[in-house]
Amino acid sequence: MAKAKTIFFCSECGGESIRWVGKCPHCGAWNTMVEQKIEPEPKGNTAGRVQMSRSAPCQIDHIIAEEGKRYRLGIDELDTVLGGGLTPGSSVLLGGEPGIGKSTLLLQAAVKMAAYGKVLYISGEEAAEQIKLRYQRISADNETHADNIYLLAQTDIDSALAEAEALQPALLILDSVQALFSPQLESAAGSVSQVRAVAAAAIAFAREHHAAVMLIGHVTKEGMLAGPRVLEHMVDTVLYFEGERYNALRLLRAVKNRFGSTNEIGVFEMAESGLRPVEASAYFLDQRHLSSPGSAVTCVLQGTRPLLIEVQALVSPSAFGNPRRLSSGYDYNRLLLIIAVLERKLKLRLNDKDIYINIAGGLRLDDPAADLAVAAAIASSAADVSVEQELLLLGEIGLLGELRGVTQEERRLKEAAAFGFQKAVCPPAKNKPKGYLRRLEAANLAEALKILGLI
Ligand code: TYD
Ligand code: MG
Repeated sequence: MAKAKTIFFCSECGGESIRWVGKCPHCGAWNTMVEQKIEPEPKGNTAGRVQMSRSAPCQIDHIIAEEGKRYRLGIDELDTVLGGGLTPGSSVLLGGEPGIGKSTLLLQAAVKMAAYGKVLYISGEEAAEQIKLRYQRISADNETHADNIYLLAQTDIDSALAEAEALQPALLILDSVQALFSPQLESAAGSVSQVRAVAAAAIAFAREHHAAVMLIGHVTKEGMLAGPRVLEHMVDTVLYFEGERYNALRLLRAVKNRFGSTNEIGVFEMAESGLRPVEASAYFLDQRHLSSPGSAVTCVLQGTRPLLIEVQALVSPSAFGNPRRLSSGYDYNRLLLIIAVLERKLKLRLNDKDIYINIAGGLRLDDPAADLAVAAAIASSAADVSVEQELLLLGEIGLLGELRGVTQEERRLKEAAAFGFQKAVCPPAKNKPKGYLRRLEAANLAEALKILGLI
């Protein structure tokens, strides 16, 4: 019998090395190599590898590919993030911190998916009775396809997939990749090689049986999928479920998607009876503190959807020589840049003031169209004058203080109009979108702040 050998895996990227090294040769991370004993592979063992079905080379003209059939789950927020529904044969990884609602979301998906076919929910963490209790909380009384939902409490991936083989589900859910293990490997469940083997087996099952598979993965405090960042490369779609523990709002975002855009987000609220989709713009604006100085509203694009967002700023005299700048939800370096422009181009005195920026609702913005709203919120707080209500701010700020155009302005104006906004301050545009709001054009930051009455 061949000897069991030891290899080292990087817990960041999953890269392998035959010796221990301080720095991963694959991703350059320090102190991430972990030792793993590998049993000699029996012939045909595919643990850790996804095997495509073997086929001869074929001319591209002769390949028949239908534009994918999708299962629309009827949970709009989830369908959008998936790129229009769940694709048969695909694998989806749902990552998030413990307790955020991953099991709840996928059980809700299972209930909807039951309308199309059988669903097998494999739980390595909870007993079938526990899942049943959750099911009773989230499902309406009149679920018509409950007989299509199967639960299996199992931690051995091979036995679990054998059951799946017999059942032939249209959707297979693994809760979670860290709780399941492959008996062919010696290492403990949750280790890098185990997580890879479990995911690879499930993905291979999905390809072979044309079933969709959804994997739940826990994320460590640092925000990485515990160990197996490597999973991100193996699956077709990676979704992250985020939110704060003491806030009912949950954001679902795609960070990788072979079947759709990755900028999409879905917004949910954790309620008594499970996760409820919320209309995002309404949610973020609802909590706005109307007509307080330091508040400004902009419209950012998250994937295909426009979102109205409140930017809050607080400017206060600093107690010490070194003024503090803090940003939550907005890029810190961009904030510094905007402060510099406000100081140099508008002669605003900010070097003896602390500045705090907050994006309401816990969202992270990376759309430069929000720049003008950030600048206006700061100027508004500094002057203690509020920005007019129902006024939208759009525009990227350049180093010279100029305002630059934003992408898809029309869709943003349309969203704002739908929420009763009357006016928008925006950069000059060649093709002016008409009919939504009254556009007040400003070529630079100074003009924009004059229109707002802040300088
Ligand atoms: P869960 O889906 O178990 O989280 P995860 O699988 O990501 O660890 O849900 C966690 C929390 O959600 C739990 O603290 C209870 C709460 N919850 C509700 O508030 N309402 C509900 O209807 C359900 C099912 C859960
Ligand atoms: Mg769970």
